[in-house]
Amino acid sequence: MQHKGAEAWVPATRSLTKLAEAAEECRGCELWEDATQVVFSRGRAAARLVLVGEQPGDQEDRTGEPFVGPAGNVLADALEAAAIDPATTYLTNAVKHFRHTVRGKRRIHEKPAVGHITACHPWLEAELSVVRPHVVVCLGATAGRSVLGRTVRIGAERGKLIEPAGPDEPQVVVTTHPSALLRLRDRSEWGEAFDELVSDLKVAAAAAD
Ligand code: URA
Ligand code: SF4
Repeated sequence: MQHKGAEAWVPATRSLTKLAEAAEECRGCELWEDATQVVFSRGRAAARLVLVGEQPGDQEDRTGEPFVGPAGNVLADALEAAAIDPATTYLTNAVKHFRHTVRGKRRIHEKPAVGHITACHPWLEAELSVVRPHVVVCLGATAGRSVLGRTVRIGAERGKLIEPAGPDEPQVVVTTHPSALLRLRDRSEWGEAFDELVSDLKVAAAAAD
């Protein structure tokens, strides 16, 4: 499907509050139709470290807040283990509406398509131009595509500082999405995946200081 993209809805403003308000009206792709509300962001306008997720999940869609569900809990634990105070960060998503399919009473997460990521990108670009972080952490491949504008292979690229695209651009670190840990049953696998996530976050935090 072709999407118009969010450009027409993004106001020229330096205010994150105004951006978030304007995003409520966005019709840049069809994802708003089945979502409860837009989920914009949380955090400090002056953050040196920005974390970008994929899209809101079920609980985020209901509450309007990013990373309040199970993946958010994993992220909170990983930030704590990396000695990063979440209050010093800015947390957002590549796509601002919850893409899902309905099965019975359940709403099943569906990955956003490249068309959705592209359509929603103007919001992220506007946020980054206001916050102007030193480092952007991409939590997973969807965030990687939005921030770097290309396909990102997490396994090959994770945990390294990717040099800025231009003089005023942030450095980028890609890592796994915290929800990937939720799919691991085995305790030792989980521990290893968690340690890798924490170690990637530490790389980002050190570069942001
Ligand atoms: N997963 C994300 O990528 N973002 C959220 O806000 C919640 C879960
Ligand atoms: Fe707009 Fe993004 Fe929502 Fe699509 S997902 S309607 S581009 S805010």
